[in-house]
Amino acid sequence: MAGRTVVITDKATGKSVECPVLEGTYGAPVIDSRPLARELGMFVHDIGFGATSACRSAITYLDGDQGILLHRGYPIEQLAENSSFTEVAYLLIHGELPNARQMSEWDHSIKMHTMTHEHVNTFYQGYRYDAHPMSMLQGVVGALASFYHEPQTDYRHDTDHLLTARRVIGKMPNLASKCYRYSNGLPFVYPDNSRSYVENFMYMMFSWPTEPYHPNPTAVRALDLLFILHADHEQNASTSTVRLAGSSENNPFACISAGIATLWGKAHGGANEAVVHMLEEIGSPANVRKYVDRAKDKNDNYRLMGFGHRVYKNYDPRAKIIRKVCHELLTELSLDQPMFEVALELENIALKDDYFIERKLYPNVDFYSGIIYRALKIPMNMFTPMFALARSTGWIAQWIELMEDEDFRIGRPRQLYVGSERRDYVPVAERSGA
Ligand code: ACO
Repeated sequence: MAGRTVVITDKATGKSVECPVLEGTYGAPVIDSRPLARELGMFVHDIGFGATSACRSAITYLDGDQGILLHRGYPIEQLAENSSFTEVAYLLIHGELPNARQMSEWDHSIKMHTMTHEHVNTFYQGYRYDAHPMSMLQGVVGALASFYHEPQTDYRHDTDHLLTARRVIGKMPNLASKCYRYSNGLPFVYPDNSRSYVENFMYMMFSWPTEPYHPNPTAVRALDLLFILHADHEQNASTSTVRLAGSSENNPFACISAGIATLWGKAHGGANEAVVHMLEEIGSPANVRKYVDRAKDKNDNYRLMGFGHRVYKNYDPRAKIIRKVCHELLTELSLDQPMFEVALELENIALKDDYFIERKLYPNVDFYSGIIYRALKIPMNMFTPMFALARSTGWIAQWIELMEDEDFRIGRPRQLYVGSERRDYVPVAERSGA
């Protein structure tokens, strides 16, 4: 076998297998473990997929030890400083930055998909008055599958993937804003395509039909930045869910809906809402030590929300950017945010504490994003839907990459069975205790 290989020997039988080692542009080399199953009849056991590569991808690279995040090769810091959310969406999907003409065509083509079928509005009416917006968003995005569905569609070869991307990106602000409007008994607002992507979203969320609406440009820029930072993040839980759903050659809106379900949990996208609950509960910088001690206590399930990451064992580069913007935004909008003081004290104490140092637990992107959303007067239960809105660009880029992958196969993990041995059925009357 040419190239680098790894030999694995089963000491019980003396049989060996040679597995190819695959090298990417960056990152740890990857062992192609398929010969293990073929030749030794063994599988790899990796709960949580911490040591498993499930696909080849050219979209996003992250180095958790160095705190590096690249989209199509461009560092997140440069994109945050110079780009816009829709440009980053173009980059994720097309692989290259657009020229001026391509950018203007892209923006226009997204605007052509900001409306939804009028019947979509009736779906919202079925939700309870106090439904969580993530539950509504998951449902209505899934419902769009019925508006863009042909029986037996070959999603790999017979669909226009770019059109699908434009539909998803164009409609998400409309769908997410309606979750908020429904919860608050407000009339739905149609998109206004004379506005930018983010401004249009704010308009659909916050405007009154009776009044002109002019959002604060600082707030628009801050939100655009948050959307850039949330646009994609490699093979995280929700993205892997979208890929797994897509691997059965399923409708893309159904796949995005599955991603939304996974994002909702507090260990993932739901952390931004959980962070603000936590900071409110802590209340004052003087109480921080008590909560840090709780997080360290093995007999207490309490965790500091917004701390820790499966891959980053260094400062999350997105958290660094957000932290700076948080300072600037609060100063620029002249906002007094006691919550920010609590967050700074929490970060300060935790980063000096041996428990967090030894486990390499640093603030992640969601530690600060909730404070920014709060400063922008976004209701707390809308934080995660807004994350979903931004991440849907990454999800659809990853879905397209999967659909166009020559190595496409349905995702089908194996397991280590630890249940009963084979046994025969016993009629109920003959079972013990009858
Ligand atoms: N507070 C206190 N201790 C923690 C925390 C935390 N936030 N996170 C991890 N630890 C501890 C664990 O108790 C464990 O300690 P041990 O080795 O003594 O048992 C050790 O650090 C490793 O933790 P794991 O749970 O094994 O790490 P894993 O990679 O599986 O989980 C996760 C990562 C889910 C992000 C975790 O750190 C967490 O729950 N953080 C809080 C929730 C959060 O902020 N999620 C957002 C993630 S970013 C995103 O999805 C956008």
